[in-house]
Amino acid sequence: MSDSSENIAVVREPAQVHGLLAEYDTPQKLIAAARRVKEAGYTRWDSYSPFPVHGLDPAMGIKPTILPVIVFIAGLLGGSFALFFQWWTSTIDYPWIVSGKPFWTVPANIPITFELTVLSAALTCFGSMLLLNKLPMPSHPLDRIRRFARVTDDRFFIVIQASDPKFDARETAQLLESTEPHGALETVMEDVESSTAIPRGVVYGLLVLGSAAIVPFALATLSRVTTTTKPRFHIVPDMDFQQKYKAQRMNTFFADQRAMRLDVAGTVAVGELRADDHFYRGKVDGAFAKTFPSQIEISEETMQRGQERFGIYCAPCHGLDGSGQGMVHQRARSLMQGTWVQPSDLHQDVLRYKPVGELFQGISKGIRNMPPYERQIEPADRWAIILYLRALQRGNAASLEDVPEAERKGLE
Ligand code: HEC
Repeated sequence: MSDSSENIAVVREPAQVHGLLAEYDTPQKLIAAARRVKEAGYTRWDSYSPFPVHGLDPAMGIKPTILPVIVFIAGLLGGSFALFFQWWTSTIDYPWIVSGKPFWTVPANIPITFELTVLSAALTCFGSMLLLNKLPMPSHPLDRIRRFARVTDDRFFIVIQASDPKFDARETAQLLESTEPHGALETVMEDVESSTAIPRGVVYGLLVLGSAAIVPFALATLSRVTTTTKPRFHIVPDMDFQQKYKAQRMNTFFADQRAMRLDVAGTVAVGELRADDHFYRGKVDGAFAKTFPSQIEISEETMQRGQERFGIYCAPCHGLDGSGQGMVHQRARSLMQGTWVQPSDLHQDVLRYKPVGELFQGISKGIRNMPPYERQIEPADRWAIILYLRALQRGNAASLEDVPEAERKGLE
């Protein structure tokens, strides 16, 4: 610096008045004072209290906040977006039949709709609350008034701002004096001394945090384009790593080098000896059985059991009458035109004369487009279903001779 340079004085703006502060020692006085200030027609002023004071809002003439309206609209938008997007994905972008259900129904899509409604409403509520309150506000002229600190404890305040069109140093002071304030009124000055720049530490801190936030994404991107022989991170290993042989792997310990051991020839798990070919496979001497196995009692009871099981396992496709017109068929036909194979009409002659053993095998192992049912239906129930199926077929092809003589009269 050369000597000739002049000392540049820091020119400060003359301190401006922010407003006039009055202190009260009871909430009643605060309410009474607020009512007076409102009646006097002031618009830029506020009251401060350590706790919500009932009746203060009407006394100040505060209108209800618009926040609920904003939140309602946000929730509505979130919910309808969720509904629309799910509808669009499952009917237009990627229609996919699941268990013959419709592509689109409201109930199945409620969880996400609910979540998005709440999410959008909650985030909007939080954000709008801050915006409407002009937050965050790092500093306020009142922060520098010592006695104002008691606003968090046991004192109540009113500040009328100098920017109010009705503000007049003398008149406003007179009005506040007349409201029985506690102690003297105080003029609150605008803070023109403190710097408004963001502190350096904060700026650098944000820069460091911001750059650090990129690192995980960079690492993720990197690992997408590179290969490694190291195993993945395993935060909770549970029982994922064990000394064990996996199925179909090699094990040099055994002569045949298989890790999976075969059953010793001829062994059968307890209770799984299904030696009875007739009962378990519908075969007698290698040919399809023409009779029911001895375990099946041909009785009214078995018939009823068969009817019930048929209604559960077969009717959805073949229909209660066995004609092949069940609900699944009707639905599938409308969804998969051309590719759906109709369940057989069980009254066809070929099926009426098919040996029961062959029907048994068909149900057990499935036949052409019909799925197998041996895992779902016990053998005895499969036989009961066939018994009922036989009755169904007979009823469908019945002639007058099948009706007891006493009852023929009415039918002729
Ligand atoms: C998921 C639908 C579906 C269910 C459930 C179903 N079926 Fe079928 N069934 C079919 C279809 C489809 C065919 C025709 C298969 C073909 O021709 O490719 C068929 C064919 C048959 C046939 C004719 C087989 C032949 O030899 O031509 C019989 C008998 C039969 N079903 C009995 C039953 C019985 C008994 C049940 C109940 C245990 C049953 N089905 C359950 C779809 C079903």
